[in-house]
Amino acid sequence: MLGKLAPVSRCARPLRALARTLSGSGAGGAWKVAVLPGDGIGPEVMDEAIKVLEHAGPLFGQSFEFDHAHVGGAAYDAHGEHFPESTRQTCEASDAILFGSVGGPVDEQHLPKWKDAEKNAVLGMRKAFDLAVNVRPATVYPALSHASPLRADIVAKGVDMVIVRELLGGLYFGEHRTDGDKAMDVCEYDVDQIRRPLEFAFAAAKQRRGRLTVVDKANVLDTSRLWRRVAKEMAPSHPEVELEFMYVDNAAMQLIKAPSHFDVIVTENLFGDILSDAASVLPGSLGLMPSASLGGSKFMYEPSGGSAPDLTGKDVANPAAQILCTAMMLRYSLEQPAMAAAIEAAVSSTLAAGICTADIVAPGVTPCGTRAFGDAVCAKLSEAK
Ligand code: IPM
Ligand code: MG
Repeated sequence: MLGKLAPVSRCARPLRALARTLSGSGAGGAWKVAVLPGDGIGPEVMDEAIKVLEHAGPLFGQSFEFDHAHVGGAAYDAHGEHFPESTRQTCEASDAILFGSVGGPVDEQHLPKWKDAEKNAVLGMRKAFDLAVNVRPATVYPALSHASPLRADIVAKGVDMVIVRELLGGLYFGEHRTDGDKAMDVCEYDVDQIRRPLEFAFAAAKQRRGRLTVVDKANVLDTSRLWRRVAKEMAPSHPEVELEFMYVDNAAMQLIKAPSHFDVIVTENLFGDILSDAASVLPGSLGLMPSASLGGSKFMYEPSGGSAPDLTGKDVANPAAQILCTAMMLRYSLEQPAMAAAIEAAVSSTLAAGICTADIVAPGVTPCGTRAFGDAVCAKLSEAK
C-alpha cells in the first residue's frame, strides 16, 4: 500500500478540465501573464509570442495584461541577483509565467552576471513555485521531416511523444558536498514526490494513445525500484493505460531507433533532463520545443532551447517554441483549450506552408525571419477563424 497520499495532484487538474479556481482575472477581465524574457534570443522570441497572444485574444474573446520582469543576466544588471524578489512577486501576482531563456555568452561564464545565471534562475523558480512536474512534448511535424536527423522511414511512422519529468527531487535537490578530493551528490525520492509526475503522466496517457513508459535504472538504484513500486500500485486505478518499464540506457537507444514506440514517458529528474534533450533533436530544431512546468500555484512555460547568444538580435531565431508555450499556457493554466489548439494549428499550417526560420527551412527555400514567422502565425489564425 502507498503511504499518506495527496488527493488528485494539482498538476493533473488542468488535464481533467476541473473548474478553474484562480481568482482576480480571467472571465470578464484580462489574464495576468508574468513575462520574463531573460537574455539572448529570449526577448525577441518573446515579442512574437506576445504578438500572437494579442492577435488571438480578440478572436476568442480573451484579453491579456503582460507584466514584465527580469530574470538571469538581465536581472543581475538591474538587481544584483538572477532571480530577484521583485520578479518572484510579479510571478506570484499573475495567472501564469511565460519564461524566455537565460544563459549568456559562453566565453563570459566566469563573470558574476553569467556565473550560474541559468542554474540560479531556473532552479530558483522551480523551487519558489513548487514546479514538480515538467512536460516536454516532442513531435515531428510531417512538413518538417526533412529537418529531422532521423531516416525518413523512421520519421514516417510518426513521432509524437510527451516526456514528463520530475523536477524537484533526485540528484538536483539532494545534498551536494565536496571534501577535498571527494565529492558527493545524494539522490533521494519519497512516495509523494514520485506520485505527482505519475498522476499527471497516467492522465496524459489516458487522453493520448494510452501507453505509459516509466524510465528508470531499477537494476541498480533503490530510488528506481521505489518508482516502479509506486507506478505498479497506481496502475489498477488507470486500467485504460498500458504501463511498461524501461531502463534509461535502453530508453536512450529506443528514442533514436524507434521513437514512434513512445507515447508518454515519465521519469526522475536527471534522466528526464538527459532524455528530453535527446528527444529534442528528433523534430529537427530545439526552436520547436515548448515546455511546461506544473505543480504549485503558478505554472511556468518556457522553450526547451537555450539563449543562443550567437543568434541574438539578428532576426533569425525560431520563435515557434515560445509561441507554442503560449498554447501550453492557455491549456494548462488558463483553461482555454480552443484558443490553445488554434495557436498550435496556426504554427503547424505556417510550417506546412514552407514558412520557416533558417534552422528548419527546406533545402533551396528562403528562410523567413523571427518577426515574419510571428506575422505568418497571426495571419493563419485570422484565416482559420
Ligand atoms: C533544463 C536545463 C536545466 C536542468 C539547467 C539549466 C539547470 O538543462 O531545463 O533542462 O538541468 O534542469
Ligand atoms: Mg536540460
